Amino acid sequence: MADRLALFGGQKTVTLPQDDRWPVLGQAEIDAVVALMREGRISIGDGSGPIGGLEKAFAEYTGARFALMHNSGTAALHAAYYGVGVGPGDEVLVPTYTWHATAGAVVMANGVPVFCESDPHTLNIDVEDAARRITSRTKAIAVVHMWGNVADMDAVMALAEAHGLAVVEDCSHAHGATWRGKHVGTIGHVGAFSLQGSKVLVAGEGGMLITGDSTIYDRALVLGNHGRIQYHAHDDAMRELTTGLGFKYRPHPLGAAIALEQFKNLDTWNSGRRVNFDYLMEGLSDLPALAVTRTPDQAERGGYYGTRILYDSAKLVGISRGALLKALRAEGVPVDIERYPLLHLTPYYRQRQRAYDGYLAPVVRSDYDDVPFEPGDFPATEAFHQQLLALPVFTAPQFPLLDQIIAAFHKVMAGTNVEELKDAEERGDPVLFDWP
Ligand SMILES: Cc1ncc(COP(=O)(O)O)c(C=O)c1O
Repeated sequence: MADRLALFGGQKTVTLPQDDRWPVLGQAEIDAVVALMREGRISIGDGSGPIGGLEKAFAEYTGARFALMHNSGTAALHAAYYGVGVGPGDEVLVPTYTWHATAGAVVMANGVPVFCESDPHTLNIDVEDAARRITSRTKAIAVVHMWGNVADMDAVMALAEAHGLAVVEDCSHAHGATWRGKHVGTIGHVGAFSLQGSKVLVAGEGGMLITGDSTIYDRALVLGNHGRIQYHAHDDAMRELTTGLGFKYRPHPLGAAIALEQFKNLDTWNSGRRVNFDYLMEGLSDLPALAVTRTPDQAERGGYYGTRILYDSAKLVGISRGALLKALRAEGVPVDIERYPLLHLTPYYRQRQRAYDGYLAPVVRSDYDDVPFEPGDFPATEAFHQQLLALPVFTAPQFPLLDQIIAAFHKVMAGTNVEELKDAEERGDPVLFDWP
């Protein structure tokens, strides 16, 4: 007989401290920031100092020809879309399951996000679904390497070539990930990374655009980095555009200095996260109700921004995700539901202009009609989104804690405990029903 569930008064399984604090900022970061402050270099317009240093490090690490730091990942995405030429009315294929900046930056470039389904096994854009949504107005496809798992870049590039589309890679979750040995952000035409404080590589706030195309780089300069146009633009006509377009995406040097120090640890942190991720997934792989997200053979994960597992309640006598979560959390497992909303069901896209009256009012349906999105419009993504379990990433070595988490999953999903949970759910036990 399985141990009694903590939810019903039994012993809690996860007892070890969970103090994997992030980000890890050490003396080197503090010294770099203090040195800049003593010099009084807290605004740098020409891309020198730590800003240029970080760009060089990024370009060398990823193999990209050009890197341009921005003050956020959102700004880098805006520059990426503008860079590939997205303009008024141009459609960009974007997964509905992503952080809202991937689509919002399309709107910022006056384009139209056209939402797509994602694949439940990889959580990345469903390329066949994207293909069905191509129209004569489609200009680009945006892929997001969700939670560090690389999208199927062979399929994405083949689709893009067949239809003359630009490929924008949102690499905000996947610093250091590769596809067939090439770094994410260098496979499509342009890549954008967030360096915001919860990512694997942090500036506090910041972003990085990488590309192999001097025109994309020049356009990004003109969009948001006016101080550098005359020094760094490749095209003669561009160099004369000294004023730029008025957006100010210049990054903060103190953030660049932090990220430059952090960069030295990226591979170590990624490999720590990889070992922990693989260990946890292996430990859960014998539980039939759980499906671990699949890493394609061509890919190596990086970034590991979060851990997602699919729960199939039909394989656990129909216990709801909410009840399962309650039981796991009572055992001490740091598990949650998916907190990214599906974008087509958020007020901005659902109700259109009403929410943001007058500001870059987007047309979000590819057929330009006025029908709002409804639940059910993206059935595959909506179905798996309801089943996701979210766990944090673990960076430092901590197998004993992971062992306890694995044991807690097994305890909750063991025969008699499952029956007890099922009974409690059927009789409406309030302990299970104050979940959001
Ligand atoms: C997938 C994705 N894209 C873009 C961004 C935007 O980055 P930032 O917050 O640096 O603007 C984020 C940030 O969380 C993200 O997760």
